[in-house]
Amino acid sequence: MKLDRRISNLIITGFSGTGKSLVAKEVARGLNWDFLDTDDEIVKQTDKPIAEIFRQDGEAKFRELERETIRKACQQRQTVIAIGGGAIVDPQNYELLAKAGLIVCLEAKPKTIYERLFREAAYSPETEVRPLLANDNPLERIRQLKASRQSYYANVDWTVHTDNLNISQVAEEVIRAWRLLRSASDDTPIVIARHEMPKQSQEYLAPGLPRSARNDIKKAARNDDKDIACLVETATQSYPVFVGYGLLDKLGEKMKKAALSGTATIISGENVFSLYGSKVEGILKDAGFAVNSFVVPPGEETKSMDYAIKIYDFLVEHRAERDDIIIALGGGMIGDLAGFVAATFLRGMPWIQVPTSLVAMVDASIGGKVGVNHPEGKNLIGAFYQPNLVLADCQTLTTLPQRELTSGWAEVIKHGMILDEEFVQFLESNVNRLTKLEPELLTRAIARSAAIKAQVVSQDEKEREGKRTILNYGHTIAHGLEAATQYKRFLHGEAVAIGMVGAAKLSQRLGLLPSAAVERQQALLQKFGLPTGFSGLGLAEITRAMELDKKTKEKAIRWVLLQDIGKVVIRSDVSQQEVLAVLQELAEP
Ligand SMILES: NC(=O)c1ccc[n+]([C@@H]2O[C@H](COP(=O)([O-])OP(=O)(O)OC[C@H]3O[C@@H](n4cnc5c(N)ncnc54)[C@H](O)[C@@H]3O)[C@@H](O)[C@H]2O)c1
Ligand SMILES: [Zn+2]
Repeated sequence: MKLDRRISNLIITGFSGTGKSLVAKEVARGLNWDFLDTDDEIVKQTDKPIAEIFRQDGEAKFRELERETIRKACQQRQTVIAIGGGAIVDPQNYELLAKAGLIVCLEAKPKTIYERLFREAAYSPETEVRPLLANDNPLERIRQLKASRQSYYANVDWTVHTDNLNISQVAEEVIRAWRLLRSASDDTPIVIARHEMPKQSQEYLAPGLPRSARNDIKKAARNDDKDIACLVETATQSYPVFVGYGLLDKLGEKMKKAALSGTATIISGENVFSLYGSKVEGILKDAGFAVNSFVVPPGEETKSMDYAIKIYDFLVEHRAERDDIIIALGGGMIGDLAGFVAATFLRGMPWIQVPTSLVAMVDASIGGKVGVNHPEGKNLIGAFYQPNLVLADCQTLTTLPQRELTSGWAEVIKHGMILDEEFVQFLESNVNRLTKLEPELLTRAIARSAAIKAQVVSQDEKEREGKRTILNYGHTIAHGLEAATQYKRFLHGEAVAIGMVGAAKLSQRLGLLPSAAVERQQALLQKFGLPTGFSGLGLAEITRAMELDKKTKEKAIRWVLLQDIGKVVIRSDVSQQEVLAVLQELAEP
């Protein structure tokens, strides 16, 4: 479908409490367009408040009126149309709306919605939520109703996360989205020019790899493929990492090019599957794969032997064979779990990483570390098992919760800090556009960050030669913070950000790093919204947890430090006093 007709209207949808009507009004003012709210139209037409229509005539009648109002609204031009939160669920409405305009969904977490509906008069409750609020567990009801609509909300042209924005900021985001979409001539995915392949990946070809396999992959890299961000080349497997905006559409095609066939079993978490599951299933079926899906609950607890066994059972039941394919669709938790199953079921099946979180795109999906947690410790059971390809569609980040997204930037920044000063400069110059997920820059940042990780793991596949250790920059203190708070308080990237500040300060104390560099890193982390210190934690708890850190070899901790921005060093001669002094600094308010 061409966009030209569609850019002439904007349709704003989203759950109650996301500010649809207020935002639509503001957007209309900004674009100098008309504004229309379908609920208001229905009230005008029937001369009854919506609650009364529901009460007297029933929901079916309301939906009928709504359909009719939407049909009329769709004939407008240059109009911002706010529609009721449930309207888009109706396929007839969706079809009309999708032809009439660009649809933008306003997102908010259930908790935000709940708080807004209760506390903020501006978000006056719409009809459908009043009964929810009267319920004795309104938050849970909001969660349920929202979850039941999530797959419809995912079917839109753009999503704006409103949790941390005010009405005019949301309106600005909507206008920006409209401009971006307008500049694309039709709705084929925007795929960004190929990222410079790092020279290094050519230099570090794994010696054990058969020449033919190496040549094939290089040929693919040359011919195919502007979507290749980098190659991971290890002794056991060479594979491309594809990064692009809207790239999911090409998953089937890329898999066929990688000579994969048979049945694909998608392993995914509930959140991600409700957003992208049916889309990915459709893409794979269109490419000729038979598809089964196994969906697990989100959350780190799922990364367990119990769930691995559930997946084995599913594979046995569906008679999966050695040449069939496992697809990990989700964040790092899913990648680790699905990869572990792929590594062990039938002594190893081909598998594909389709990372959907920032952490997974730039870190977890690359390098073949797979595994599950043991009640006594994270990632205690696992293997090195490389995927056949990684495909990261940066567009999926538009639905990633804000805090997860922010946390992911810590690993991106880390990659720049240890190996690539130029990349740090790029991040510094583009913070705003990157945090707003501008497609082209986002793709570049992720491709580059993934390439840095690929380069490191290609040199030290199994973490035996110590080269992979440099990826632990910021992680020694981070593990201390995470363990001291039972993995409940910080997201991993948040702890890593604080840990990076600590490692830089330590580097400064050892006379390795100038204070300007310490400040430069701190400023960058802050601009991405990451924490750079902590409060309310005893230092003893943290150091105790740090000594338990499994990366500790013999007695001395191997500290990953900086000599300069982009230049990493490892030191084992750091005294306990220095570490304590740094922790003290981090703990200061
Ligand atoms: N194998 C490795 O080398 C490696 C490296 C780093 C981390 N990890 C592992 O990765 C896990 C952390 O990964 P993570 O940060 O991606 O966490 P995660 O997989 O738990 O995902 C975080 C949350 O975001 C949701 N989500 C993911 N993508 C989404 C999307 N596009 N839209 C909406 N919601 C989405 C998930 O459902 C989940 O609730 C940990 O288990 C960690 O041990 C592994
Ligand atoms: Zn990490």
